[in-house]
This record gives sequence, structure tokens and C-alpha cells, in this order.
Amino acid sequence: MPVVPLTDIVGPAARERYGVPAVNVLNDLTLEGVLAGAVEARSPLIVQTSVKTVKSIGSEVLFAMWTAMTRGIEVPVTLHLDHCPDRAVITECLERGWNSVLFDAHSLSLDENQRQTVEVVAEARRTGAHVEGEIEGIGVEDGVGSEAVGPDGRLAVERQVEFVRATGIDVFAPAIGNAHGQYASAPTLESDKVSAIVEATGVPVALHGGTGLSTEQFHDLIARGCAKVNISTGLKERYMRSSLDFLRGAEAESRWDPPSLFTAVQADVVAFTRNLCETFGSAGRAA
Ligand code: 13P
Repeated sequence: MPVVPLTDIVGPAARERYGVPAVNVLNDLTLEGVLAGAVEARSPLIVQTSVKTVKSIGSEVLFAMWTAMTRGIEVPVTLHLDHCPDRAVITECLERGWNSVLFDAHSLSLDENQRQTVEVVAEARRTGAHVEGEIEGIGVEDGVGSEAVGPDGRLAVERQVEFVRATGIDVFAPAIGNAHGQYASAPTLESDKVSAIVEATGVPVALHGGTGLSTEQFHDLIARGCAKVNISTGLKERYMRSSLDFLRGAEAESRWDPPSLFTAVQADVVAFTRNLCETFGSAGRAA
């Protein structure tokens, strides 16, 4: 099973109502670990890179790692650029071979976001790539009311549906009370919005801020059409805690052997990814 377009992964997931982990990797170890976890779980996988990771490793090295590590892989995988407001980085990754990008223009006015998202979709199509779109925060952040904004200060579902249709995006990331990082308290999610958007557009929804949501919340949102489930903070924490545990042991024994640190951390990344696949229902779907 080769590297495939994003829609080859989220399409079946949306139809059959399972979620595919979209995990942000940080380096070679985490990339290798999440791929191995998906292979063990016989699951499709979306690998995400933040703009920060693209800039720190460099798109050329990062893409070379991706190509080498996915050669001959037995499950469908795809490479996605997470939250990117910078058109130059979008172009760089598309030209390099990323399969999809999240053009994050939520800080622009809604009309300008829509206009530029149309351009990004056209640009992506030229390389056979796909686009996730986002308008979250609009209506709340600018503090200016409009007929598109409801009494709760949130953008009406109708306007979100219009954005999805007008831009031709392949995946949509709505704000539904979710947030990146650990939640200070259990979030109340506007899951009805997911159902309404998916029913009206047929476009799968990306669930952002996956770290800290409950299994029940995942299952409910996935059943409503969240086919792409984003996880970043959870993997970062697992990586750091796993390293810390190992290093404490190394210090106690005065045994300083970096390869055994890498092996231990990677085993945890593999287990972490396998667990996500099982929780979201994607395990066994690539069998
Ligand atoms: P978390 O960091 O909360 O897991 O969210 C990840 C995410 O949505 C990346 O876009």
C-alpha cells in the first residue's frame, strides 16, 4: 500500500464512520514510530508536520525522511501540512510533494479567507494535492457583529457550509468548542455543528484539539463525520515523559547509551499510535 492522497484516507473513513489519527511528528524517531504503530494496527494514517517542524528540519530533509520511511509501507499513509497561514510555506510543501495542506487563514476576514482558500485549492490541484480549510474564531476575534454571526458570537452553520461549498476544500476544520493543548476542564463540544456541516456538504470534518477528549467524545464526533482526528500534544507529552523515565533510570545506573534511549522512546510512540487507531476505529481497516 503506497502513499495515497488525503481523500483516499478520509473518504472511506467518513463513509464508514471511523476516525483516522492525524498525528503531528517532530523528528525521525516520531515519524518512524507513528508509521510502525499504524502498520501494527493495520490502520491508515495521516502524518502531520507543523510549520515549525518544516522550518526546523527543512522541507527537503523532512520529505526525504518521509519518502525513505514509507517506501514499501503496507498501510495507506499521507503527508499533511498542519495549520499554515504562510502561502510561501504552502507552496514550498506542495512543490516538495506533501499530499495536503491546512491553509489556516482564520485571522483574515472571512471574505479574504474564502478568496485565498480558493486560490490555495487551485494551487494544490496542480500537484494532485488536497486542502483543509478553517474559519474558526471569526466573529469572536474581530468583535464585529455581522448577520453571519449568531447571538453566541459564533459563525452560523449556514455561512460555514457556504465557505466549504465556495472554496471546494476537501476537509473542513470548524470550531466546536475544541482547543489545542491540554484542556483546563472538560470541554463542552458543539457536536450538532459537525452533523449539520457534514450532512449539508458531504465534506469530512477534521477534529482539532484531540488531546484530552474522552473516548465517548471521540466516538460521538466520529459517528457524526469527524474522519480526521488531530493529535499533537499527547504525542509530545508521551515523548518527553518516556525520555524522562528512561533518563532517570540511566542516571541511577550511570549507563549512558543513546541508542537504548531511542529504542525505549520509539516503543512508546508505537504503542501510543496503536492505541489511537484502536480508539478511533481505524485499526484493521487497512487489512
Ligand atoms: P492537540 O495538541 O490538542 O492534540 O491538537 C492537535 C491539533 O489539533 C493539531 O492541529
